[in-house]
Amino acid sequence: MSTNTNNSNKKRNPENSNKEILIQVNNISKTFTSNWGKVQALRNLTFSCHRGEFVTIVGPSGCGKTTLLRIIAGLERQTTGEVLFKGSQVLGPGHDRAIVFQEPRLFPWLTVEQNIAFGIRDSRSKQEVESLTDKSLALVGLKDFRQAYPHELSGGMAQRVAIGRALAFEPAALLLDEPFSSLDVSTRARLQGELLELWHKTGKTIILVTHNIAEALVLSQKIIIMSPAPGSVKEVLAIDLPYPREQNSPAFQERKEYIHKNIGAKH
Ligand SMILES: Nc1ncnc2c1ncn2[C@@H]1O[C@H](COP(=O)(O)OP(=O)(O)OP(=O)(O)O)[C@@H](O)[C@H]1O
Ligand SMILES: [Mg+2]
Repeated sequence: MSTNTNNSNKKRNPENSNKEILIQVNNISKTFTSNWGKVQALRNLTFSCHRGEFVTIVGPSGCGKTTLLRIIAGLERQTTGEVLFKGSQVLGPGHDRAIVFQEPRLFPWLTVEQNIAFGIRDSRSKQEVESLTDKSLALVGLKDFRQAYPHELSGGMAQRVAIGRALAFEPAALLLDEPFSSLDVSTRARLQGELLELWHKTGKTIILVTHNIAEALVLSQKIIIMSPAPGSVKEVLAIDLPYPREQNSPAFQERKEYIHKNIGAKH
């Protein structure tokens, strides 16, 4: 167990040796115990993300991606191992790590701006809430829809509200669990572009779980490929292609093929 291992973490990660490690996942395993038995979801996972990095996690269904993200968010506790955030152990949820789920999970009786302000209104002054809400609305392009209710939004807009709500916490890290998977192809492509823009503007550290390998290649600097259940890290791939990524380029296609083969499933 360690509480202040920033320096040693840096040494452990040669590829980012000059960058600050924000999230360090150290040899974590997770076994769920239910009435009907035990399920090992994760086995001996280790990887790191540096500050400002865009990381995606891909792997077959049931390999523990959501469980892993929930552990980093502090919503779930690992069975063994540790997660360090800025060098300190994650012991529970915190505003520094905001999570967005597959479905937007908005309050239907609150407007867009009230949904975005909801999580911060008890811990911030009225002025701060207004300014953070405005900033988040602008970042997700929903200023004109601040008074709208969730039922008046498209699926893509609702997911933008969910991202806006996460940004209102001013987190250092955004944890996104397949946020675009229920959207149609063109909306998904647009939101991917918006997410990249948001990342460039804010410099947030982003960990995105996706089933979609092209999405991982369009967005991220590092792809963590997980093995089938119980999930472990099969490979960590650095993606050094320049942005915006050209999906028809041989370099893109080559990496896509490689990951498909490595995961052992077509997507
Ligand atoms: N709360 C829980 N109680 C018991 N078992 C759980 C719980 N949450 C997840 N599991 C089990 O852990 C394993 C990993 O689940 P998880 O949802 O993390 O996978 P996933 O990779 O996100 O899958 P998908 O790609 O389908 O979203 C599965 O076998 C699942 O049944
Ligand atoms: Mg999942």
